[in-house]
Amino acid sequence: MIKLLSHLSYVSVTTTDVEASVEFYKTHVGLTEVAREDGRVYLRCWGDYYSYSLVIAPGDEPSLETMAWRTSSAEALDEAAKRLEAAGVEVEWFDGFKVGRALRFVGPWGHNMTLHWDVERHQAAGHVASIYPDRPEKRSKIAGAPRQLDHVTIATSDVDGFAKWYNEVLGFRIMARTVLDEAPISVFSVLTTNEKSHDLGVVLDGSSRAGRVNHYAFWVDTYEELLIAADTLMEHDIPIEYGPSIHGIGEQTFLYYREPSTMRIELNTGGYRNYVPDWTPNTWKPSMGSSNFYRNSAMPMSMTESFPPADGPSATEEGVPEEIRDALLNPYTQHG
Ligand SMILES: [Fe+2]
Repeated sequence: MIKLLSHLSYVSVTTTDVEASVEFYKTHVGLTEVAREDGRVYLRCWGDYYSYSLVIAPGDEPSLETMAWRTSSAEALDEAAKRLEAAGVEVEWFDGFKVGRALRFVGPWGHNMTLHWDVERHQAAGHVASIYPDRPEKRSKIAGAPRQLDHVTIATSDVDGFAKWYNEVLGFRIMARTVLDEAPISVFSVLTTNEKSHDLGVVLDGSSRAGRVNHYAFWVDTYEELLIAADTLMEHDIPIEYGPSIHGIGEQTFLYYREPSTMRIELNTGGYRNYVPDWTPNTWKPSMGSSNFYRNSAMPMSMTESFPPADGPSATEEGVPEEIRDALLNPYTQHG
């Protein structure tokens, strides 16, 4: 099987107040607005190679409109379409904004995914053009501004089933999974299309609502930049939800906070690279530090909230089974 996908290229999310979200991304995350079309606002990190990596669209609630991957070639895009159709999935072709001929589909657990090969490479305006040929534009002047989009983590009622399907149909490598200490329940898995530990995360969703997202993440180059971002958020009265700390799985340093729509954003840095083509995924227990490498703090229950909200703001109201909820409240039981 040829390699179908190369990397996550953009995420498109809905928000109830587009202007409030856009202002937040520009002021507090350090993204730049590049275009507006059909009510959507297109944003980019300074180091993104293509035109944009985040799309903000109007909606009744915060949600994931689509998550987009660039294929490895034009042929790979057609091959992906064939494989999806063979798997019984309806594929819709469309002309994407600055990504040309693209396909989108809704996966078995309700997640909209876009695949494309064509891209428009970013051409920085003169005053922000980098002096370095490989940089799409100058480094942002905003403290802690991410270099580029890193990954997206969705929520699903069947973590292992989701991982298996995306592995078999689209070639995502399964890198690791977390099974509860207390019960044989998979609560987390990480998939990748490249050498990163993951560009697609999967968390257990106890609700009955399909197609939800837990967060998406941007990459900063250094641990120091992540700490500066955390410092700056605190100085501007923007609460930090979880971190800074280090995940056991992937070994990335992480920081979670929310944008005005309540959607969760993560900043990441560090971690390992994995080039092993026949990697066998290990099964972690939360007590091993799968989410918190240092095993010294509990993940806030709010981290189990995904988007759009299921039936209410708390995990209990979202229908997380009692055994899972109790396990999550254990100080060493964390996923993320
Ligand atoms: Fe993440």
